[in-house]
Amino acid sequence: MLPRSRSAYSRGSFAIETLRMMHVLPSVLLSLLALRAQAANIVSTNDDGWAEINIRTLYNALTKAGHSVVLSAPAENESGTGSAEATPSTVTNGCEFSSCPAGSPATGSNSSDTRLNYVNSYPVTSVKYGVQKFAPNFFSGNPDIVVSGPNVGANLGSTVQISGTVGAASAASNQLGIPAIAFSGTTGSQTAWDVATPDYSTLYADLSVNLTNTLLASGTPYLPNGTYLNVNFPSAGSGTSCTAAADFKFVLSRILSTSGTTVSTCGSDTLPTETSVVDTDGCYVSVSVGDASTKNDATADQQSVVLQKLESILSCLP
Ligand SMILES: *[C@@H]1O[C@H](CO)[C@@H](O)[C@H](O)[C@H]1NC(C)=O
Ligand SMILES: *[C@@H]1O[C@H](CO)[C@@H](O)[C@H](O)[C@H]1NC(C)=O
Ligand SMILES: *[C@@H]1O[C@H](CO)[C@@H](O)[C@H](O)[C@H]1NC(C)=O
Ligand SMILES: *[C@@H]1O[C@H](CO)[C@@H](O)[C@H](O)[C@H]1NC(C)=O
Repeated sequence: MLPRSRSAYSRGSFAIETLRMMHVLPSVLLSLLALRAQAANIVSTNDDGWAEINIRTLYNALTKAGHSVVLSAPAENESGTGSAEATPSTVTNGCEFSSCPAGSPATGSNSSDTRLNYVNSYPVTSVKYGVQKFAPNFFSGNPDIVVSGPNVGANLGSTVQISGTVGAASAASNQLGIPAIAFSGTTGSQTAWDVATPDYSTLYADLSVNLTNTLLASGTPYLPNGTYLNVNFPSAGSGTSCTAAADFKFVLSRILSTSGTTVSTCGSDTLPTETSVVDTDGCYVSVSVGDASTKNDATADQQSVVLQKLESILSCLP
């Protein structure tokens, strides 16, 4: 083993020297390094339950993108449970969509893919179990990032206060110290993991991977301390005009119209509200920077950091 890896290493160094001499190091090699740097350890959670199709579609997409993903989410629909927490208990009537039998233990794993875990409790409890109990079976230390959702239904404006998807992302940020993103999608209803994947679910997963990879490529710290991202996708898929990932554009937004000073961008000194972004014709995805303690808008300075990190994928409203 050793001689082989040493020789591979030497060959790599020689290639780097050659590229440097050819003056192509900045363009070619740096983009290769940036791609390589994106392989991350990720804990995934939600509030619609571990067997809802959106979380499984995102799990598959992040895994396919090269990340090490551990899913830990409620056994049941826990939509709207905000920041509630409770000690997990036996699953009396079985997990949602018959994804585990009645009388199952308080926490459990899919025996053929133990990266898929349920916790019979709330989203915040689920993300804590994911980080502290399940993830250490696959990687050491905290995950690089926590992703929550994509939630079934948007979480716009004051709805962030009751959303379990946002509750879990906020707790990851301000209780566990891990950068976190809450993703929510306008289209769809709660759907079992084992049916044909709806097109909106694939689109939301692909867009979530795009934003996650862009944030990871921006380097550490991925987000300002104590903040989270609240990302909302507009209507998508068949019957809408947003049917391909390339149709969508990310726009920096604010959570509340009543928030004070925001960062200036797109020729305005005030960010558009996330509701106005998602409601604008043309497939606009809102990206708001939230304070994990209040769940409302972060400071203009914190928004400015995120604006720079995501610059390459951010657009302005028409
Ligand atoms: C999940 O819970 C929410 C909030 O209680 C409820 O509105 C929704 O209908 C539930 N979904 C299902 C499929 O039961
Ligand atoms: C468990 O994982 C297997 C293999 O990936 C899959 O076929 C099955 O549907 C999963 N079941 C649940 C409840 O996650
Ligand atoms: C991050 O913010 C929390 C409060 O949100 C604070 O307790 C902690 O000391 C901060 N950590 C760093 C490294 O600044
Ligand atoms: C990510 O999204 C941006 C903006 O919508 C797009 O230009 C880019 O091609 C996407 N990248 C990937 C890898 O999907």
